[in-house]
Amino acid sequence: MSIENKNAAITPTELIDYAKQAMKKAYCPYSGYKVGAALLTKDGRVFTGCNIENASFTPTVCAERTAFFKAISEGNTDFSAIAIVGGKDGVISGVFPPCGVCRQVMSEFCDPRTFKVYLGTETDEYKSLTLAELLPYGFSKSNVNI
Ligand code: THU
Repeated sequence: MSIENKNAAITPTELIDYAKQAMKKAYCPYSGYKVGAALLTKDGRVFTGCNIENASFTPTVCAERTAFFKAISEGNTDFSAIAIVGGKDGVISGVFPPCGVCRQVMSEFCDPRTFKVYLGTETDEYKSLTLAELLPYGFSKSNVNI
């Protein structure tokens, strides 16, 4: 299920606020790091996600991928931006950049030149990057000929 924002353009700050709400749902008994993400579709829907850890460690999924897989599994594949926040015990202290695996998942579905990644902080300040800046010379479907 998504949050619909059909009538109002959503600002980076509003998207970051959704990520901050999603962060509260994090299941992270092993690391204690709570992470939240809010993924914006081109038609104005917001899909949120949190990190979900596992006693066996490797099945752990990041907040960003939770948001992507929720959106894609509900038929949404066109995205314009994602907001990400995180911090130990849910205390945000500066930016919390996406891991390499999440950057790779973004690159499967998003135009690296236009897709925006907003890294929220504990204040109203945030860092705005394109996927191309986060994943230069990335490997994507354009490199696969099958
Ligand atoms: N984590 C995320 O949710 N997103 C990232 O991009 C980096 C890491 C989570 C995974 C794990 O639950 C915790 O943060 C500590 O690595």
